[in-house]
Amino acid sequence: MKRTIIDGRTVLLSQSCPQFLDLAVFTTTRPHQNFASADQPTDLFDAIQTLKRELNAVILAHYYQDPDIQDVADYLGDSLGLSQQAAATKADVIVFAGVHFMAETAKILNPDKLVLLPDLAAGCSLADSCPPAAFAAFKAEHPDHLVISYINCTAEIKAMSDIICTSSNAVKIVQQIPANQPIIFAPDRNLGRYVMQQTGRELLLWQGSCMVHETFSEKKLVQLQVQHPAAEVIAHPECEPALLRHADYIGSTTALLSYAKTSSRSTFIVATEPGIIHQMQKAAPDKTFIPAPPINQCACNECPHMRLNTLEKLYWAMKNRAPEITLPEPTRLAALQPIQRMLAMS
Ligand code: 13P
Ligand code: SF4
Repeated sequence: MKRTIIDGRTVLLSQSCPQFLDLAVFTTTRPHQNFASADQPTDLFDAIQTLKRELNAVILAHYYQDPDIQDVADYLGDSLGLSQQAAATKADVIVFAGVHFMAETAKILNPDKLVLLPDLAAGCSLADSCPPAAFAAFKAEHPDHLVISYINCTAEIKAMSDIICTSSNAVKIVQQIPANQPIIFAPDRNLGRYVMQQTGRELLLWQGSCMVHETFSEKKLVQLQVQHPAAEVIAHPECEPALLRHADYIGSTTALLSYAKTSSRSTFIVATEPGIIHQMQKAAPDKTFIPAPPINQCACNECPHMRLNTLEKLYWAMKNRAPEITLPEPTRLAALQPIQRMLAMS
């Protein structure tokens, strides 16, 4: 993805669609560290391994990261797996190759550890679609409701929630709530609708969504299915219902990866961020993985937030022990409880 620097901030340029022009503005409003290119080692993989030993660090990475980051990580996983690893690690330093809410969750679980995020501007459109003040007002209108929030939200939203969930355990968690208990589900309306369908429960949905998973074109997907009639469509539940109705299998990133490995089919149309195809190809080199196409002629199906992290920034974060994730202790303590409930219910 092409980037440029305006007023000292990273701005994404390669996309021709309006949502990325909005994002360029959004990105410039976030703090962004400068990182020097002088003295950068030629072998970054080797330098990162050395720093890892020196710092007693662990590198946790999400599947949507660039392939080189995936290859240097100690653990790769979906949001639940990454939280479980963060909760269990004995390392002194957690280098989080993912987006801000993921690193923040690691910090909530590990207040005494140094948690590094290679680029602090790596946010999430879904988390941003649920501003704390508006959500507090929404919650106040429904005081009898239990609040279940998808982990893709800020610490402030977690602090207002009763239970956190991820795409891999949302159905299981909702099923554990007594049938007569009304539930607010935030912030992803698409995952919420999917959970409603799977559980038969009515949920009061916050109308947030992920810019990446809402960019897939149903029309182009159907055209691809015609070209590849033996292919299975595998999709993430953050996709819109119109897309999901064409899916042969729906699951979290880890679930999609396992399904692709074990299915007897040899071709898959993958409706999630295409970074995961790196692992699918490694796990099943003889199979074919086709990214589901976005509406516009752009790379909008790549998460522009996730892709702000690079191997270079990861190296410099470890070298400089910055940028680090910090958050106020009252917020951390309030956000910790619903995360711990999720870990216990998973
Ligand atoms: P999972 O990895 O938990 O499936 O979530 C996908 C995602 O959008 C992460 O931001
Ligand atoms: Fe957020 Fe969507 Fe990117 Fe995941 S893919 S980090 S939900 S913007």
